[in-house]
Amino acid sequence: MASEPTTVTITGAGGQIGYALMFRIAAGDMLGPDRPVRLRLLEIPQGMRSADGAALELQDCAFPLLHDVEVTDDPLTAFNGTRIAMLVGARPRTAGMERADLLAANAGIFGPQGDAIGAVADDDVRVVVVGNPANTNALIAAAAASPDVPADRFTALTRLDHNRAVGQLAEVLQVGPGEIADVVIWGNHSASQFPDVSHATLRQARGRENGMPVLDALAERLGGREAATAWLDEVFIPRVAQRGAEIIDVRGSSSVASAANAAIDHVRDEQLGTRGVTSAAVLSRGEYGVPEGLVCSFPVTSRGDGEGYRIVEGLEVDDRARGRIEASVAELVAERDAVRDLGVL
Ligand code: NAD
Ligand code: LMR
Repeated sequence: MASEPTTVTITGAGGQIGYALMFRIAAGDMLGPDRPVRLRLLEIPQGMRSADGAALELQDCAFPLLHDVEVTDDPLTAFNGTRIAMLVGARPRTAGMERADLLAANAGIFGPQGDAIGAVADDDVRVVVVGNPANTNALIAAAAASPDVPADRFTALTRLDHNRAVGQLAEVLQVGPGEIADVVIWGNHSASQFPDVSHATLRQARGRENGMPVLDALAERLGGREAATAWLDEVFIPRVAQRGAEIIDVRGSSSVASAANAAIDHVRDEQLGTRGVTSAAVLSRGEYGVPEGLVCSFPVTSRGDGEGYRIVEGLEVDDRARGRIEASVAELVAERDAVRDLGVL
């Protein structure tokens, strides 16, 4: 077992996703069975009792990998020496709140947290933003942490959307989710995102060496290429893109365990390496025509070599896909511009 614990900070630790995250991290699900962790749990004063209670429960689990836990409402304490920062706490949209108000409220959270990360985090810190609007909150935090932390260390979570897409395909194709490779989520973590299966394959399908294209498998299953395209346009894409709203409608509150699971997948794969292509919102340097500086979901891989996620370049994007990606990117541009108008960037 490595002796030096890795410091992991969770913000919004007294909330629902925080609660679902911390026990799995302490059990070794995120960084593996040989990496001890030190947990730093950040809350606002109103959330401290809940986070304190969770910390008591962590102690009662006696996790061998859990070195220590600290609950605080001070960002400088929470991010001190942090290697992995999971920014979950955010201001939710409330009735009558305009988009600009939501962005302003979250700028007031993610700006100061970015400042604190820039001031006191480990030199090799990696950040994943879960709190919505996740892509733009990551942009705000990255800008605040600059120049102390390179902007490409800030990512936002679209792995939940990726996993949702895999789950839907697995159901219709009647295969295990582990069979499905190379799905891509493009754009914003919002209803405008584009879940793209055009490069996806079934890993072991019928002995084919390079797997079977998911588009062929869908055509076989649904009665032809046209039926497959109709299912993708009318069922799959809207269902994945609006799954968050579906969960809120059915459960009465937003996704929790699946969001925490996806955040763990995101960090684990970034740290330990990916098997095939996955999706994460990362800093654009102009890839696929996405304006430089946006935090946009792309196809990514990681070698687990400490360099983090790399965008997979050179995938073919046809006109229909291009139009969908551009629509979601336009929303990211509008969010960025709204934040700029607030004087935050
Ligand atoms: P929650 O309301 O249960 O918990 C949020 C917690 O954050 C609260 O305890 C609150 O006190 C705390 N908080 C607020 N401001 C804070 C600050 N400045 N510093 C530290 N803590 C702060 O919400 P939840 O269900 O845990 O969801 C958290 C966020 O994750 C929401 O924004 C939600 O929309 C988002 N979310 C994102 C995804 C995704 O895939 N990206 C999926 C699901 C939910
Ligand atoms: C989700 O995708 O489940 C959430 O982002 C939805 C939300 O609005 O919290």
